[in-house]
Amino acid sequence: MESSGSVGRRPVTDAESRHAGRRWWDGDADAYQAEHGTFLGDADFVWCPEGLREADAGLLGDLSGKRILELGCGAASCARWLRGRGAHPVALDLSAGMLRHAAAASARCGVPVPLVQADAMALPFPDGAFDIVCTAFGAIPFVADSAAVMREVARVLIPGGLWVFSVTHPIRWIFLDDPGEAGLTAVHPYFDRRPYVEQDVSGVPTYVEQHRTLGDRIRELVAAGFVLRDLVEPEWPEGHEQIWGQWSPLRGRLFPGTAIFVADRP
Ligand SMILES: C[S@@+](CC[C@H](N)C(=O)[O-])C[C@H]1O[C@@H](n2cnc3c(N)ncnc32)[C@H](O)[C@@H]1O
Repeated sequence: MESSGSVGRRPVTDAESRHAGRRWWDGDADAYQAEHGTFLGDADFVWCPEGLREADAGLLGDLSGKRILELGCGAASCARWLRGRGAHPVALDLSAGMLRHAAAASARCGVPVPLVQADAMALPFPDGAFDIVCTAFGAIPFVADSAAVMREVARVLIPGGLWVFSVTHPIRWIFLDDPGEAGLTAVHPYFDRRPYVEQDVSGVPTYVEQHRTLGDRIRELVAAGFVLRDLVEPEWPEGHEQIWGQWSPLRGRLFPGTAIFVADRP
């Protein structure tokens, strides 16, 4: 590790990443939902901390009758919103803790959606099972081999299918995760792909977040057979004052915090 304490950038294996991810999201599920649940809603599709909603963005196109897989669904509010638009969603997450919240929210609002516990690296569905795959900040930043996820998504999509995912905008990698003034100074090389790792005293990773440059993301999509249709960089809306971790009005007015990739599977 190059940083002090138990935080820094270093390579991790797939297994370390998966283990850390499951443990982290199970342990963090209650806190995550307590902090962000109201912002995300029980049955709403919010793409990012900037507050862009699918209802306004329409990135997924026509939804009626579509078979849609939501990856890294968390409490599955997006899947419930999709169900309300006449789609047939399946919500998938690695974390049982997150899926517990998904089941509770479905029961609370009377909108059941199928929930699946699985790793996005190995989707338990046959080829061509879905018309659309989507995720808001799920799975992609937390897997060591996101190129493999792109291939899995391509496999489970029909020809003509659509893949839309939001992630932290790669430019954020060069700054500290700080919503204030300290988060305005570049301190880390954009081209350093080693993941951000928090580890315990014995060196076991407890939280891993991966970085790809914009070019890396496009190359992974193209290598999996996708055609990139759009790269949406939501602007920080006037009057939106809510801070989400490192996302804040201060930073949002200066540079993008989210990248949403919209890709077609020919
Ligand atoms: C930042 S949360 C986003 C949750 C939800 N999409 C939202 O907008 O609130 C990331 C989610 O990705 C899930 N996740 C992480 N690694 C995953 C993997 N390899 N496969 C599937 N889900 C994963 C986590 O369990 C967590 O629920």
